[in-house]
Amino acid sequence: MPDHDQSDGVREADRVVPLRRRAGGRDRPLDAVIVGGGAIGLACAWRAAERGLRVRVLEREEPGAGASGVAAGMLAPVGEVSWGEEPGLRIALASASAWPGFADELEAAAEMDTGYARLGALHVALDRDEAAELRRRFDLLRSLGLPAEWLRPSACRELEPGLSPSCAAGIRADGEAAVDPGLLVRCLQAAAERAGAEVVVHAEVIAAQIAADVLVGVRTADGHEHRAKSVVLASGAWSGAATWLPSSARPPVRPVKGQVVVARGSRKEPVCERIVASERVYLVPRADGRLIIGATVEERGFDTQVTAGGVLELLREAYRALPDIAELELVESVAGLRPATPDNLPLIGPGGLDGLVLATGHWRNGILLAPITADAIAGLLSGEKPSPEVAAASPERLGLEAGLLAPVPEEVPR
Ligand code: GLY
Repeated sequence: MPDHDQSDGVREADRVVPLRRRAGGRDRPLDAVIVGGGAIGLACAWRAAERGLRVRVLEREEPGAGASGVAAGMLAPVGEVSWGEEPGLRIALASASAWPGFADELEAAAEMDTGYARLGALHVALDRDEAAELRRRFDLLRSLGLPAEWLRPSACRELEPGLSPSCAAGIRADGEAAVDPGLLVRCLQAAAERAGAEVVVHAEVIAAQIAADVLVGVRTADGHEHRAKSVVLASGAWSGAATWLPSSARPPVRPVKGQVVVARGSRKEPVCERIVASERVYLVPRADGRLIIGATVEERGFDTQVTAGGVLELLREAYRALPDIAELELVESVAGLRPATPDNLPLIGPGGLDGLVLATGHWRNGILLAPITADAIAGLLSGEKPSPEVAAASPERLGLEAGLLAPVPEEVPR
């Protein structure tokens, strides 16, 4: 019998294993349980707690154990835009412009650094075919009114002297930035907890609590019940595999594997100063001397094995762009899972089941879209209407009907 099934006559909502009573405001009913403690879930928790809502994050492993722990942290709406994906651009640009203020507020709240840096980006072509493709991309950027400049090879090498002599052209996008997702997750957890949110680790959700067709909470593997007015699904690539939800309520999110290589060199003389991207690879320098080289795009289900072929491709393409990477220390190679949707747009808002709110499906842009997602979800949990910027991310577009928020439960585990 599936965990959400109510046919045994004992509803999940009645199987209460009380948590210990907590002090202070923690006796209040929960406004939201957030399933998933990555950048998205923690950002939602922080922004909601800042508004005075009582929220609890349930993380199956450790904070940032999913895609956030592997992400390069590019805040690159210009670099990520693609043909036919203009609706997502509006959301991406809105979130990119929110990032500087978000980073400032977060760093002040957490008293830690996020690694946010406005590095700028240089997209390069490394032969004539790639130059023709890059020019097509440049025309797309211009048609969308995006700030980008076409550069000749000499101008590219003036900006990045380590570029290969085979560099054939470039696009300069000075507004692009990056953040260190490892630091970001630590900051978000600290800020969320300081604002009053609870972050529970090693808490695997195994059952939905459904009463009169409304999702009123979840049960974790340790037997605890977490009842709340809303359940926010922020489980990234695992969102579509949330078997604790009725199948009709599970969002169409699938995992797309990305392998990443981390190298390290001199902090004072990095191999590049800005994000350098070619057709098949991107390189993101960190202030501590690391260089993140990413990423493969592979449809392999939940497989996260690092392969020789994946690493070979990344290093070969990185070397074609910046030959000096051959001198760097090889630190690690890792693989993560992007949460992809059928139209590559995120799912932000109520959907699937009354009481369920989606904050997932961020595809290649989870870190970039954290601020706008968090503000939208915190607003929604506070009873506000969705902002026009996130309208394109409404779950309704994929047939996931907008649900009502559940009434605040009278009996809440403490
Ligand atoms: N945002 C880059 C990637 O998903 O690889």
